[in-house]
Amino acid sequence: MTIAVTPISDALGASITGIDLSKPLGDDAFGIIHSAMLEHLVLVFPDQDLTDEEQVEFTLRFGDLPDRGVHSRGTKADDQLHKSVMLVSNIRENGEVIGSIPDGEMFFHTDGSYEAVPYRYTFLYAIEVPKTGGDTLFANMYAAYETLPDDLKELLADIDAEHGFYAGPDVTEEMKIALRVTGHSGSARHPALIRHEESSRTVLYVSRMLTRRLIGLGEDRGRDLLFRLFDHSERAENVYRHVWTPGDLVMWDNRCTNHARTDFGANERRLLRRTTCKGTRPERAAP
Ligand code: SIN
Repeated sequence: MTIAVTPISDALGASITGIDLSKPLGDDAFGIIHSAMLEHLVLVFPDQDLTDEEQVEFTLRFGDLPDRGVHSRGTKADDQLHKSVMLVSNIRENGEVIGSIPDGEMFFHTDGSYEAVPYRYTFLYAIEVPKTGGDTLFANMYAAYETLPDDLKELLADIDAEHGFYAGPDVTEEMKIALRVTGHSGSARHPALIRHEESSRTVLYVSRMLTRRLIGLGEDRGRDLLFRLFDHSERAENVYRHVWTPGDLVMWDNRCTNHARTDFGANERRLLRRTTCKGTRPERAAP
């Protein structure tokens, strides 16, 4: 089989065919996927048939698993689920959801930015998907930076942002209840402009769901600017929308993309399996 890399939108993303991810990944295939990640930031592998263990093995080729387990709170017993696997699901068994972040829309975010050391990559594998909705949107945060006016690039060069668990300025209590993320904590401070440690390119590192505030600009000015940055990075031309088909494995680079989820009907079933690998502490971009 020949591995083919085909871009899927003007903003970012490529589809990769000609590879079976349930098999061990050789060095040549790893090299092709790694280069494609650096170029396209989000990769879609259609028609995969993956067990928990096979998804974890694929994830491990790209970095260490997070230190702590990322278990879903759900009915699946611990010994049935790899400790590094999280189910993203709204499916209820005996009245209990079997996965995490079950229902409704999610604003744009990058996984783990409320931690000192966020995740490098996330891998999401579709098992059951709604007939409509529950799409995942990806924004190119290199392009978000590159298309900012020069005065904003200059202003943001020395600014830090505070990130918190679902702490964005317009995250509502209703949304937290639907996502079952009430009562959690976690907070970290990162530069608003970070340097991607592999490409050395500058990234706008803020998101509507997780960035609480810009530090040192004053409350009103910081808030206005934050909303301007959210709107700028989420413009349609900067976003790829992934409409899921069962068997899709999508992996993305959390250092240079934000992602969001569209709403879907409460009576639709949605089940995806998520793994992540560890990243490094984000560094400030050189001016
Ligand atoms: C996530 O943000 O990790 C999940 C996205 C999704 O459910 O589409």
